[in-house]
Amino acid sequence: MQVTRLSTGIDKLDELLAGGIPEGFFVALTGMPGTGKTIACLHYIWAGLRDGERCIYVTTEESRESIIRQAEQFNMHFEEAMEDGDLIIIDALMREHEDEWSLQDVSVEEMLKKIIEAKKRLGRDTRRLVIDSMSAFWLRAPVKAREHSYFVKRILSKWHFTIYATSQYAITTGSAFGWGIEHVADGIIHFKKRVIRGVLRRYLIIEKMRQTPHDLRAWEIEIVNGKGLVLTKPLARRMEDEVLPEKVMQRIRRILEEEYEEV
Ligand SMILES: Nc1ncnc2c1ncn2[C@@H]1O[C@H](COP(=O)(O)OP(=O)(O)O)[C@@H](O)[C@H]1O
Ligand SMILES: [Mg+2]
Repeated sequence: MQVTRLSTGIDKLDELLAGGIPEGFFVALTGMPGTGKTIACLHYIWAGLRDGERCIYVTTEESRESIIRQAEQFNMHFEEAMEDGDLIIIDALMREHEDEWSLQDVSVEEMLKKIIEAKKRLGRDTRRLVIDSMSAFWLRAPVKAREHSYFVKRILSKWHFTIYATSQYAITTGSAFGWGIEHVADGIIHFKKRVIRGVLRRYLIIEKMRQTPHDLRAWEIEIVNGKGLVLTKPLARRMEDEVLPEKVMQRIRRILEEEYEEV
């Protein structure tokens, strides 16, 4: 059975994922603040909108206006998509103004209700859903994270979504606030940052993607004004990237084959 894949909206990332995210998957985007998770979500939504799909974005840490402005900086026109009835942004922050698509109460149940309502409004073909981030839902009860994650996945899978869910990592411990989501995720894309010689550098690595022969390297990423997230180069090189003399390559291949036979 062929796997149907959805584009991430980032060409290089699609390539590393053998085409994209398998339809119906629940993918966790994990990492510390400022590593590019939200921007990756914007790409995922824009890829759908560009293809004439309808999409849902739940924002819990930034207002809807902030998401729209950020997307616009990368030439992704979210406001127009909303006006055209192709995109619903559910705002769980309620900083600016309340409306039909704001969450009154930041609870998992309330969010699921709104998502289902949004899907009914947009139509049954709506499959791209972003929840950015899930961490907000267990600020009050971190021990519930795993149980809630499982609940969210179970309910939403019945509604045929392919989901990006972000999870914030605690700065101090490096462990996820929402440690529950990795346990239920079909895929995990981890975002990292590091200061090297006084410069902030960011990376991503595909830690898990079921049913996918994916790339295993950490990739340096750049966030470019007007463009968005770009994968620039892998940290490690694969053997096939090295140009070695044919004789050496033959020897390496022979050794690998021999090792393989012993398994
Ligand atoms: N227009 C822009 N041009 C270049 N970099 C940007 C732009 N807008 C945001 N960024 C970078 O993206 C970062 C935010 O990334 P984001 O995806 O929101 O992180 P998070 O992982 O917390 O969701 C900012 O701290 C900034 O470094
Ligand atoms: Mg974010």
